[in-house]
Amino acid sequence: MPGEITRTLLTSDQIARRIAELGAEIAGDLEGGGASQRIVLVPILTGSIVFVADLIRRLPLRLSLELVAVSSYPGQAMTSKGARLRGEIPTNLSGAHVLIVDDILDTGHTLALVRAIIAEQKPASLRVCVLLRKAGRQEADLTPDYVGFEIPDAFVVGYGLDHDGYYRNLPDIGVIPPAGPHRPQPEGRP
Ligand code: IMP
Ligand code: MG
Repeated sequence: MPGEITRTLLTSDQIARRIAELGAEIAGDLEGGGASQRIVLVPILTGSIVFVADLIRRLPLRLSLELVAVSSYPGQAMTSKGARLRGEIPTNLSGAHVLIVDDILDTGHTLALVRAIIAEQKPASLRVCVLLRKAGRQEADLTPDYVGFEIPDAFVVGYGLDHDGYYRNLPDIGVIPPAGPHRPQPEGRP
């Protein structure tokens, strides 16, 4: 484990087991509409890539992917109050069963933004799945349909989550403590 990361919060085995459960639950909710039903997963880049890669292999459904990219302010480790869409948003979601997938629900502004834009297209159903939800941080009005793990208010990296773009490749999820020169500084926090 790189030195900055002081403890492991979730191991790759724990994550894999939980994703198997989530997959079974989501598949149960989405299946049953017949072959004409369109199921579209909308992963939010970049943090969700590892999670969604594992999740879709636990979903034995006929589904497609439409990626969306949301950026916070460049150069900062995290901040999403000013969540901003980058690039194209899928435009063909009318009548589809849509599942938005993200790595972590922190303030909720990112997911609220993406959800609102997709809701305008009148999908047949619209659900939200996050791997992690951070305690006591949510500001936006959004209730995720699926949550992998409830975690304490700590800055986490690994399994797709980054600090300044690094550590996404770590198989476990670890904590970077709020001290020292690399202190992750979320937007709007003292
Ligand atoms: P929200 O809009 O505040 O809910 O933040 C969501 C985004 O902020 C996530 O998709 C992550 O990219 C980033 N983020 C929030 N907390 C963390 C963290 O602890 N580690 C890494 N990224 C985080
Ligand atoms: Mg993200």
